[in-house]
Amino acid sequence: MKYNQIYKNNFVWGNKPNGLLQKIYKLNKVNSEFLDLGCGQGRDVLFMLEKGYKVTAVDNSQEGIKKIKELIQANNLLIANINLNLFCGDIKNFNIQKNKYVIINAFNSLQFLPKKEAVKIIEIIKKNIKNGGYVIISGFTINDPLYKKINNDKRCFFEPQELKKMFSDFHIILYKEEIIEDKGHAGSPEPHKHGIVKMIAQKK
Ligand SMILES: C[S@@+](CC[C@H](N)C(=O)[O-])C[C@H]1O[C@@H](n2cnc3c(N)ncnc32)[C@H](O)[C@@H]1O
Repeated sequence: MKYNQIYKNNFVWGNKPNGLLQKIYKLNKVNSEFLDLGCGQGRDVLFMLEKGYKVTAVDNSQEGIKKIKELIQANNLLIANINLNLFCGDIKNFNIQKNKYVIINAFNSLQFLPKKEAVKIIEIIKKNIKNGGYVIISGFTINDPLYKKINNDKRCFFEPQELKKMFSDFHIILYKEEIIEDKGHAGSPEPHKHGIVKMIAQKK
C-alpha cells in the first residue's frame, strides 16, 4: 500500500492538528468522544488526547498506526492507555457507533475511496453523530488536477457545492472550496495543486 511506504521513513503531515479541528475542539466537555477516519500518523489523534478527549481512530496503513504508537511512547502520553482506541483497517468496514461521537473528522481521507463508498460513509456519519456534534471533512473536488486522470469510480471528487448540499440539514459552520498550492511532500515531492473542499457542519 502506498502510504505504508511513504510513512516508513517520513513524518509527512507535521505535528500540528488540522486547522478545522483547532477551531472547534474547545466546544465540548472533557471526555467527549472524537472519531478520526483516516488518521494517518496521528497529528489530530495526539492533539485531541492532550485536550482531554476520548479518541477512536482508524487508518489502513500499518506504518501510520505504528508511528502513532511510537509518538505516544516518546511523549510518555499515559492517558492514551485509557483514552485511545486505534484500529488498523478500512474506513468502509469500520462500525461508526450511533450517538457516541461529538466530533467526526475525515481530513483528506475520503478522496481515497470510490465516490459511492465515500457517500455511503457520509450518510452513516450524518445519521450516527450525536445531536449537536460536529463533522469535519476535507476532500478533493473535481477541480483537482487528478480528477482528469482518475474518475469517481476509483476516488471521490466532490462537485462544486455538493458537500454543502449533502449537509443542508446541518448548520454549516465553515465551508470553503479552493485551489491550493502544495509545496510537495514525501510520496509526491514536486510542487503541485489540489482542488480542495473544507467543511465543518453541526448536527441540529
Ligand atoms: C492524506 S492522509 C491524511 C492523514 C490525516 N488525516 C492527516 O490529516 O494528517 C490520508 C490517510 O487516509 C488513509 N486511508 C486512505 N484510504 C483509506 C481507507 N480506505 N481506509 C482507512 N484509511 C485510509 C491513508 O492511509 C492516509 O493515512
